[in-house]
Amino acid sequence: MARRKKLYEGKAKILYEGPEPGTLVQYFKDDATAYNAEKKGVIDGKGVLNNRLSEYFMKGLGQIGVPTHLIKRLNMREQLIRSVEIIPLEVVVRNTAAGSLSKRLGIAEGTALPRPIIEFCYKDDALGDPLVSEEHIIAFGWAAQQDLDDMVALALRVNDFMSGIMMAVGIRLIDFKIEIGRVWEGDFQRLIVADEISPDSCRLWDIETGRKLDKDVFRRDLGDLADAYTEVARRLGVLPSNVTHTVKPHLIN
Ligand code: TMP
Repeated sequence: MARRKKLYEGKAKILYEGPEPGTLVQYFKDDATAYNAEKKGVIDGKGVLNNRLSEYFMKGLGQIGVPTHLIKRLNMREQLIRSVEIIPLEVVVRNTAAGSLSKRLGIAEGTALPRPIIEFCYKDDALGDPLVSEEHIIAFGWAAQQDLDDMVALALRVNDFMSGIMMAVGIRLIDFKIEIGRVWEGDFQRLIVADEISPDSCRLWDIETGRKLDKDVFRRDLGDLADAYTEVARRLGVLPSNVTHTVKPHLIN
């Protein structure tokens, strides 16, 4: 079989040409990076877990009417996705203070925020993905005002969905990042959720113990990252049934 054409290789994923026009194959690597790739590692099985988890979240979003790039998972490490024009912004939604917000504003990690806070970072590794305002985004033409309104609406729907499914398995969704892409349908453009949604791009804390179940385990050397991601996958029931100790979703009183 002819080898597929590699179109892009990022820190955690590779994009290959897809089988049909307008499609791509997204491959999940085991590589982990943090602090703009200053810290690097290879975590056995991370790509497999993120492929399954991202599929699970994107499929669920699709089922409630939030459009995403996912067409279908192909195998352990790959999924077929729609090709989009990525808006060069990381959209961060925060429910609880942590990470760069805590550092920047001196708010203790774990402080519940009065409402979800949305931030935009300009996607540029050389600049370290700086925080930007809506004024910057409009002035520099990264997105139009209508796009921004649509991005905020999408991000809040993703937040409600993700908070709910995490809460049901005893996990607090602290914050997360999504990327959004444009697709063209005739003369009309539509914004859809792209990239991935996984413990690489979320902060997830166990509700009872506060245990971190996300990439902070790697960033802050808190233990075994694959164990943490496996725990998330197990609780959500997305691991194959031969894995023992599956905690089913349950209501939290
Ligand atoms: P931060 O506190 O470092 O700004 O991150 C906020 C959330 O966004 C956290 O869940 C991690 C995620 N994130 C990424 O996935 N990639 C990024 O490049 C950044 C800046 C944040």
